[in-house]
Amino acid sequence: MPHNYYTGEKAELKIDGQVHELPVIVGTEGEKAIDIRSLRGQTGYVAFDSGYANTGSCISNITYLDGERGVLSYRGYDIAELAENCSFVEVAYLLDHGSLPTRAELGEFSQMLNDFAMIHEDMIRFFDSYPPKSPPMAILSSMVNSLCSFYPEMTENPLENIDRMSARLLSKVRTIAAFSYKKSLGYPVVYPRHDLSYCANFLNMMFDSPVRPYEINHKVVAALNKLLILHGDHEQNCSTSTVRMVGSARVNLYASVSAGISALWGPLHGGANQAVMEMLQSIHESGGDYRQYVERAKDPKDPFRLAGFGHRVYKTYDPRCRIIKQACDEVLDDLKFSDPLLDLAKELEEVALKDDYFVERNLYPNVDFYSGIIYRAIGIPTSMFTVMFALGRLPGWIAHWKEMWDDPAWRISRPRQVYIGPLSRPFVPIDQR
Ligand code: CMC
Repeated sequence: MPHNYYTGEKAELKIDGQVHELPVIVGTEGEKAIDIRSLRGQTGYVAFDSGYANTGSCISNITYLDGERGVLSYRGYDIAELAENCSFVEVAYLLDHGSLPTRAELGEFSQMLNDFAMIHEDMIRFFDSYPPKSPPMAILSSMVNSLCSFYPEMTENPLENIDRMSARLLSKVRTIAAFSYKKSLGYPVVYPRHDLSYCANFLNMMFDSPVRPYEINHKVVAALNKLLILHGDHEQNCSTSTVRMVGSARVNLYASVSAGISALWGPLHGGANQAVMEMLQSIHESGGDYRQYVERAKDPKDPFRLAGFGHRVYKTYDPRCRIIKQACDEVLDDLKFSDPLLDLAKELEEVALKDDYFVERNLYPNVDFYSGIIYRAIGIPTSMFTVMFALGRLPGWIAHWKEMWDDPAWRISRPRQVYIGPLSRPFVPIDQR
């Protein structure tokens, strides 16, 4: 990486009567860090940071996020500008190649996405073996893991093949997602079409049927592009760190991404979009008393949390949420779709934002709070929401896997711990226990 991030400055740590010096790093946006890689060697101590809230696990040039100011950019481009002006495929190219594509590069990339859109017919049979109502995220992660059996392209230097592998993955995950939905309904799958753009193709595979052809609506396509762009990357979140951690053991791209999909599934992470919708639906069905839910979220004895609220890094309004909230109004307006859940979400947000509990803890709505309303308006069922998040996050996972693989400072991820278990105990044979 061209930027010389070591400033020459040293942080001093005084421990056991000795002063130790640790180098200081400053990123291009002024983010400061102390390089503690020599800490244990110098002092015998390790750093303790459960949940890694104060740990920079890598040096990265993909995404910048400032949680205090509510800023998010991919490769230096502001997220709002990208969401307004680009297609998802352009942004995927940006994340994975480092620069926005020229027309020729975009054409070539789109051609690859088209060429790789089919999945092996033997893989299609896998879908038949899942029981009805299988969670789509379980299907997605196993199907993605299986890709390396069908497309074993990992060589000693997988970066030689990375463009093909990533285009293959981006294209096939879209097909797998749509097929899993069709299979969940017991309907025949709809094959990808070469004449359609990435998002239009996905929608067509989801909603076209032999008895009712799907009419592509460009406003719906635009809304989907926007949502996927907003989910494209978010630096070292749980699933991306998982992809990096699994990949650090020199595991292939497909298996690493499959692990990321599993991490994303959790309701505290990508699963929150489904949890928000289920929460709004149940408030709506029980008469609309959202204040009760706010009270429950505040009760320290109740494990319930307001889904779609709060963020590890944002201590102000999530910039993605601002864009999605506005897009919600536009999409519903365009589609002439009125959704009582949108009104409910807005009222809930207003009440929470004025409540001392949420104010004191800087809890604002996050990217997941309004995204489900748009998905619902364009016909995506709630059970598929987290799959949609995975589709959007895929270019980010790929970019991070690639960066990790190529990092001169790469080492297998292997944190330490502070052991507090029993001291050495004499072994007791089974009959004497
Ligand atoms: N509702 C009620 N209280 C909350 C919430 C919430 N949604 N989020 C955090 N808090 C409280 C929490 O109980 C704690 O209170 P106290 O200081 O009294 O113990 C305080 O705020 C700080 O929370 P934390 O758990 O230390 O924060 P964290 O950084 O570890 O967790 C989070 C971040 C996103 C997991 C959490 O805010 C949460 O569970 N939110 C709901 C799930 C959600 O919407 N997840 C999507 C995140 S954005 C998309 C993505 O990354 O996938």
